[in-house]
Amino acid sequence: MGRKPDPSKPHYGGGASPRAARRTQPSPVFLGTALFVLGFVSLFTGHIVTDADWSRIRSRWRSKQVRNNEPINIWKSRYSNLYYGCSRRSVNFRSAVPENSSTGYLLIGTSGGLNQQRIGITDAVVVARILNATLVVPELDHHSFWKDDSDFSDIFDVDWFISYLSKDVTIVKRIPYEVMMSMDKLPWTMRAPRKSMPDFYIDEVLPILMRRRALQLTKFDYRLTNELDEELQKLRCRVNFHALRFTNSIQTLGEKLVRKLRSMSSRYVAVHLRFEPDMLAFSGCYYGGGDKERRELGEIRKRWDTLPVRL
Ligand SMILES: *[C@@H]1O[C@H](CO)[C@@H](O)[C@H](O)[C@H]1NC(C)=O
Ligand SMILES: *[C@@H]1O[C@H](CO)[C@@H](O)[C@H](O)[C@H]1NC(C)=O
Repeated sequence: MGRKPDPSKPHYGGGASPRAARRTQPSPVFLGTALFVLGFVSLFTGHIVTDADWSRIRSRWRSKQVRNNEPINIWKSRYSNLYYGCSRRSVNFRSAVPENSSTGYLLIGTSGGLNQQRIGITDAVVVARILNATLVVPELDHHSFWKDDSDFSDIFDVDWFISYLSKDVTIVKRIPYEVMMSMDKLPWTMRAPRKSMPDFYIDEVLPILMRRRALQLTKFDYRLTNELDEELQKLRCRVNFHALRFTNSIQTLGEKLVRKLRSMSSRYVAVHLRFEPDMLAFSGCYYGGGDKERRELGEIRKRWDTLPVRL
């Protein structure tokens, strides 16, 4: 997600440099886009159909009984009233390790679109917790396909993020100056394998963190397993559903959009086609745009070793 390329301008190869073009774009364009997708996701999260639900609906659809008298209601799930939030911390969950006794400062490099970055930030909080580290407010990815230069505080309410999680993890906006000055080397950077277990962080990351005082985990997306104990999963939920709150300007715009949609109809469907250059390149298909398309998608395909550049 993030700021979408302006369709009236070429977004790669030739033309105005993306950086120059970006500077002149008003930020509401970005806010609107971010909101559309995340807003819609949150609107529908209450109505996610489970696999069990789905196979039940399908088998009923196949049965005669449904065909004869009972219409399918796609807007309702029989089990939706059984879904509930479970993010509350248990009383036994120990409090955050304070900054001065933490094992060091953990930085992460986020990666991908805003949603992917959000997942990375969520996991970073849990990893900081596992390591008893102080988390430094993550910087957002400015180098992904979107070339979005928004900072964390442009998108999320940073003070709320820090204070909401203060019982769980100590978070600071930056490494304190004295600590930076006392370090003889720059923070160590390393990359965790995908879906790493907590043991990986304790065995491989913690010793370096403690030796260097600050460590950055690069390209931090999907680096933490889903096999976590329940309290850590709940922490994930606290981060994602409570701590990562959009800034007021984004919330206000979102509420306005939802009000407009509700005034038009009580039901709406959102479809994210993602018909965008990098996705087209990824698909490996030819879309009939002639040599120009081949050239442009070929350029993007070069970034992935596994994709043929020319089809
Ligand atoms: C750590 O900081 C807290 C205040 O945040 C202070 O009460 C405590 O004494 C400090 N501990 C150490 C070991 O410096
Ligand atoms: C983190 O701190 C808690 C409480 O002080 C301690 O029990 C735990 O072993 C520590 N874990 C690590 C990885 O330092």
